[in-house]
Amino acid sequence: MYIVLLGPPGAGKGTQAQRIAAATGLVHISTGDMFREHVRNNTELGQLANQYMSRGELVPDEVTIRMLIERISRDDAKAGAMFDGFPRNIIQAGALDEALAARGAKVDRALLIKVSDEELVARLGGRWICRNCGRLYHERNDPPKKPGICDACGGELYQRDDDRPEVVRARLEKQKPPADLIDYYRRAGVLREIDGERSLDEVTAALLEAIR
Ligand code: AP5
Ligand code: ZN
Repeated sequence: MYIVLLGPPGAGKGTQAQRIAAATGLVHISTGDMFREHVRNNTELGQLANQYMSRGELVPDEVTIRMLIERISRDDAKAGAMFDGFPRNIIQAGALDEALAARGAKVDRALLIKVSDEELVARLGGRWICRNCGRLYHERNDPPKKPGICDACGGELYQRDDDRPEVVRARLEKQKPPADLIDYYRRAGVLREIDGERSLDEVTAALLEAIR
């Protein structure tokens, strides 16, 4: 099964993808995580991606699509995957469909997580991430037991560079799922809209229900 998670920055795509992956065994593929890994390792792709990420803009389609296609050619994505942060537009959606069609597969569900702007700003400003295992936290909504330390692995927590208020503003302006992308999945009959402004557990339950 191939699932696409859609939603604005801070909607909870990454958090819910981690939970759904744990519940279903689907591999979690996040283009944002892949770019951040390249930035950390200071690769050529990381240097290019960082020019866009630091301004709150999308990385060009060509490099993003190439990276994603390479990723889904690996064995762990042969039978299914959950995409978090990809596709962001209909060019990327078309490229994904083409790659999946080549193996006789398709996007089975596109789950749109809806959250108001005010709540998105609060979520991004309070987000902390484990440097070691990637577990996501929120200082008020989902705090770690010990401040600054991951419950799951004891790793150190950090805040993303692009969660600074000026970059958050740009991301919210430029990176909401565009109407034509939502329409693309609606017409394919696979779109499900989920109210993301509920507790973490309620949103997880609604998403799992939508992919059953
Ligand atoms: P990416 O990493 O994908 O960032 P994003 O889309 O901005 O999404 P976020 O990761 O910020 O938010 P999220 O929805 O995952 O929310 P989260 O679960 O963390 O992309 C980063 C950059 O990479 C982009 O700007 C772009 O430059 C580039 N990029 C990536 N993909 C690309 C592509 N396909 N094409 C081109 N460029 C691309 O939750 C947020 C916080 O809220 C957390 O603290 C969490 O604990 C809390 N929270 C979550 N759910 C709840 C809840 N129900 N109640 C209370 N708190 C909650
Ligand atoms: Zn951890």
